[in-house]
Amino acid sequence: MTDESDANDERPADRGRTVHGEAANAGHRVLAPDDAEVEAYLEQALHAAPPRRVETEAPERPDVVVVLDFGSQYSQLIARRVRELNVYSELLAHDTPMAEIERRGARAIILSGGPASVYDEGAPKPDSAIWSGRLPVLGICYGLQLMAHELGGEVVPSSRREYGPATISVTNGDGLFAGIEREQPVWMSHGDTILRPPEGFTATAQTDSTPYAGLADTNRGLYGIQFHPEVVHTPRGRDILRNFVLEIAGARPTWTSAGFVETTIGEIRQRVGSGHVICALSGGVDSAVAATLVHRAIGDQLTCIYVDHGLMRKRESELLRVTFERDLGMRLVMVDARDRFLRRLAGVEDPEEKRRIIGDEFIRVFEEEAARIGPIDFLTQGTLYPDVIESKTAETKTAAKIKTHHNVGGLPADMRFSLIEPLRYLFKDEVRKVGTELGLPEPMVQRQPFPGPGLAIRIIGEVTAERLDTLREADWIVIDEIKAAGLYRSLWQSFAILTPVKSVGVMGDGRTYANVVAVRAVTSDDGMTADWARLPYEVLAKISSRIVNEVPGVNRVVYDISSKPPATIEWE
Ligand code: XMP
Repeated sequence: MTDESDANDERPADRGRTVHGEAANAGHRVLAPDDAEVEAYLEQALHAAPPRRVETEAPERPDVVVVLDFGSQYSQLIARRVRELNVYSELLAHDTPMAEIERRGARAIILSGGPASVYDEGAPKPDSAIWSGRLPVLGICYGLQLMAHELGGEVVPSSRREYGPATISVTNGDGLFAGIEREQPVWMSHGDTILRPPEGFTATAQTDSTPYAGLADTNRGLYGIQFHPEVVHTPRGRDILRNFVLEIAGARPTWTSAGFVETTIGEIRQRVGSGHVICALSGGVDSAVAATLVHRAIGDQLTCIYVDHGLMRKRESELLRVTFERDLGMRLVMVDARDRFLRRLAGVEDPEEKRRIIGDEFIRVFEEEAARIGPIDFLTQGTLYPDVIESKTAETKTAAKIKTHHNVGGLPADMRFSLIEPLRYLFKDEVRKVGTELGLPEPMVQRQPFPGPGLAIRIIGEVTAERLDTLREADWIVIDEIKAAGLYRSLWQSFAILTPVKSVGVMGDGRTYANVVAVRAVTSDDGMTADWARLPYEVLAKISSRIVNEVPGVNRVVYDISSKPPATIEWE
């Protein structure tokens, strides 16, 4: 894989921090997928002995396309699109020196868009050596403006920003636009306007509002487009990126799940030697895939720990045992900590307090179990690439907060683990592909995200055993019907919430006064923003009647039609 020696240093500032760079256990809302919380707890558990992130050099490095991040909301998406072409892509800070870009084995550079204008004071700029022609460069949106401005063209501020659908006419069908129809719908983003391109550049595409929607200097391998090829609203965007990455840059499409599995297993084997590894399974796909990779590499030298805090969905623990212990033959320690968590949550209504307690108790249980297992050399985590990127950028912002939350006992000082993070190069969809490649069952690989504090933050008000049972049953029905309707994979999340409201109803001849359950189903790309899903009425009707009929103590079901923002996905 890539050489990441800069990530080797012990970073005390990271301790007590979530994988997103936020204070662990701080009662924050983690803007991230399923396994995030568990990892946050573990990072905190480690704070007596900070993790060493040691990377081993891969036998053969793949070709890399570096995306320089100028702050666009789509920067990560560009890297993902390149990877979908089976070429490894990394997102780096906009001012990464050219020498560093080359050291990483880059075959090409893509400049993302960004909110700045090239005329802003302190507008982000790349190392000027990237224009040397040594590597092909594709500037997108702000990246194009920057290219034009930096290389001596004339860019003028425009009074209003054009953003949305547009049609381009391709005026030069070679290079970037090879094989693409002349008229193309695109997603335009247009702040400044190029009045005159730099010397050596010619126009390759135009729109009604600009003759320079695309520019190229083929001699120097410099290309720019004013629109976003990475978003779905640019239907031929993928082909444009393919032309750049595979044809113009000549990158080899060797980044595949099978290749990744093989290389990673080899690396883990080499690194672990005869050492012992532990892994916390959360039920989510990330820890499942990470554990399976490590297990493939070293078998019984891995012990998985699953803390059942009683806040899981129905049959969660069962599924875990069947998958990992029975089917995959892993050493699995299942800790029944349900009573402990319930006791500590008794009487607690505040959502952030619930999060804090659950995080704290998780660490305690995990420490106890780890101590029982005996000497441990490594801890495996399902940290993903977006987590790594974020924790690199969020370092200073959160440093002050961390101290106040160092309030849980760490592991004994002599307990030192190194971290194994086999997924730290992957995006979520790639993790799923690797899971499939490893033969993990589809329901495990395709699971919707589930928050670390589990059902506790979907019970508004106090968490009790009885209320957990009510919610678990209702939630099961939601998932069951969503799956039956074939909608599960198209939704980011779908679940039930137990509200603190009781309402009057009528059942048979009698009046009832019972709980109101809310149903939430959202679509989203990354959980940062979300829209409520337009579920078919028949599906909603089925969910509602089944919940009311099958779950004791519930007589009313409502559907949440709030988007994020301003609402959040979870209710607490
Ligand atoms: P919100 O509710 O903030 O959620 O819109 C965004 C995503 O994060 C998940 N989430 C959490 N995950 N610990 C977690 O591990 C938490 O405390 C937590 N809160 C929210 C949520 O399920 C959604 O996918």
